Amino acid sequence: MAIFRSHVLVCGGTGCTSSKSDLIRKRFEEKIKEVNLDKEVQVIGTGCFGLCEQGPIVIVYPEGSFYSRMTIDRVDEIVKEHLLKGRIVDKYLYKEKVTKEDLAEAEHKSLMDVEFYKKQKRVALRNCGVINPENIKEYIARDGYMALGKVLTEMKPNEVIDFIKASGIRGRGGAGFPTGMKWSFAAPNKADQKYIICNADEGDPGAFMDRSVLEGDPHAVLEAMAIAGYAIGATKGFIYVRAEYPIAVHRLHIAIDQARELGLLGKNIFDSGFDFDIETRLGAGAFVCGEETALMQSIEGKRGMSKIKPPFPANKGLWGKPSVINNVETLANIPQIINNGVDWFRSFGTAKSPGTKVFALGGKINNTGLVEVPMGTTLREVIYDIGGGCPNGKEFKAVQTGGPSGGCLTKEHLDTPIDYENLGAVGSMMGSGGMIVMDEDNCMVDIARFFLDFTVDESCGKCTPCRLGTKRMLEILERITEGKGTMEDLDELEELASSVKDSSLCGLGQTAPNPVLSTLRYFKDEYIAHVVDKKCPAKHCKSLLTFEINKDKCVGCTLCARNCPVKAIEGKVKNPHVINQDLCTKCGNCYNVCKFGAVEKN
Ligand SMILES: Cc1cc2nc3c(=O)[nH]c(=O)nc-3n(C[C@H](O)[C@H](O)[C@H](O)COP(=O)(O)O)c2cc1C
Ligand code: SF4
Ligand code: SF4
Ligand code: SF4
Ligand code: FES
Repeated sequence: MAIFRSHVLVCGGTGCTSSKSDLIRKRFEEKIKEVNLDKEVQVIGTGCFGLCEQGPIVIVYPEGSFYSRMTIDRVDEIVKEHLLKGRIVDKYLYKEKVTKEDLAEAEHKSLMDVEFYKKQKRVALRNCGVINPENIKEYIARDGYMALGKVLTEMKPNEVIDFIKASGIRGRGGAGFPTGMKWSFAAPNKADQKYIICNADEGDPGAFMDRSVLEGDPHAVLEAMAIAGYAIGATKGFIYVRAEYPIAVHRLHIAIDQARELGLLGKNIFDSGFDFDIETRLGAGAFVCGEETALMQSIEGKRGMSKIKPPFPANKGLWGKPSVINNVETLANIPQIINNGVDWFRSFGTAKSPGTKVFALGGKINNTGLVEVPMGTTLREVIYDIGGGCPNGKEFKAVQTGGPSGGCLTKEHLDTPIDYENLGAVGSMMGSGGMIVMDEDNCMVDIARFFLDFTVDESCGKCTPCRLGTKRMLEILERITEGKGTMEDLDELEELASSVKDSSLCGLGQTAPNPVLSTLRYFKDEYIAHVVDKKCPAKHCKSLLTFEINKDKCVGCTLCARNCPVKAIEGKVKNPHVINQDLCTKCGNCYNVCKFGAVEKN
């Protein structure tokens, strides 16, 4: 095998690919060849590094130099200076997002020195940004398929289940059900066929953890599915992945082909007599299809609608056969638990929620991206130490966890250690790992409206409380944000929320009221301000705002008037301007363009 003195890792995750990292990689390859370094320097396309907001990202080893926001134009200089002459190009290295004065000191040369990574523990993301996901040998070089080998040659199926049970791992897809227990329900069932299903539907707005694992380390999921298959006696697996994830689908197909070629999928794996093969099924991107009974209907070629449980999938799942359905991130943990042991896995996280959790950190936060932390890490650590707090000096207001099924938490909850119980106890939930940070400019009533709008769109329509109840709730929220709400509306909203929660058939309807209930619980004063004072305290809800020009600040530059789409602004050059409130549509253009802060929102 060729040995290279340097490796150039170019991120090939969806985020970086969308900002042309594939062309950057090509340019590196061309340029390296041009300067005759292609025998010494290898270029590798990887999965996501995590700090997507700074993408496209390029890391050069052995130094670990972390080049962020790369462009094609910068490649030639990095090849000439860094790779040819050994001089790191400081000006293109990632800089911490701190005050300008500290910038010089904050320069980093190595990836692992960066604040964003310091508190992280990468287990599910262990290989993402490290290996070429399109080359099975790179996975194998990182102990890939060792766990499958160990399980098939040294362990009985029930021993595998006991091992996973002892690790205490809980499903990362939302509900946190113990994985070993789920496998143990399916194992004793007799059937001519059983199935392992990987749930890669990932429908939560803002979530992209599962996509990143599939893009960056697809073999980990295949290996885990084969292990689960052996444990419960299944010979066939399906990966249900949404069609909007073309890079993940492409890499999964490459990975499945390569694993089959090496005999790691297919007949008689490791000469153990165990057969297991995997197919993909593409979902059309309906949120409800992430719910396990709807997902199985969809695989069967039917319309994805939830069904009553029981029967549970472990007894009667896909085509009526015993099936285990696990989330991508859950599966990505499995081979490492087998390789490293139960004590290792339990050495981080909390007693009831061992291990780590991956979060897609987004919203009003400096370092948006993918973060994996030990369970028990506090929200404050994630938001401030890793995420770098809110941008532009704005004040943190709330954090939404668990997507449309979760809730909004406040400053008072910042020291809550993250695990399933703690988040549930304060009215939110872990969910699949979306974490959206909000600052003082976010209106909490509007946030509740946003999530409910999503639920109304995504409800499968099978049961009345969810189909109609969420719609009525949305109408009330819309009225409130338009300044037309009443105090009775607030009572009705609360009442409807609890009946939708209690009487819906599946998890979608049962959790849909959570964003409303949590905002009512922690931000009731904002609801009251909308209803009673007809004001939006965050100055976000357009119907409740007026745009006015402060004549003392206005210098008469005319910019606002030129940008007003309805010609509502009048004034002469170098004279204070005035807004005609009857014409103003509250589009906010004048507010955004005025360089003198003269346009005020009231
Ligand atoms: C409306 C709804 C959407 C869901 N979407 C997902 C999803 O996108 N991915 C996922 O793994 N689980 C999702 N779940 C949870 C799954 O139904 C199921 O519990 C999970 O895939 C089991 O895997 P785990 O035990 O490894 O977490 C969803 C549940 C509901 C009610
Ligand atoms: S709760 Fe909503 S999504 Fe679930 S079955 Fe009923 S209508 Fe469909
Ligand atoms: S853009 Fe600002 S400063 Fe210029 S005219 Fe309008 S309000 Fe006055
Ligand atoms: S908010 Fe929009 S419509 Fe109103 S004055 Fe400003 S630019 Fe014109
Ligand atoms: S996609 Fe490149 S860092 Fe996430």
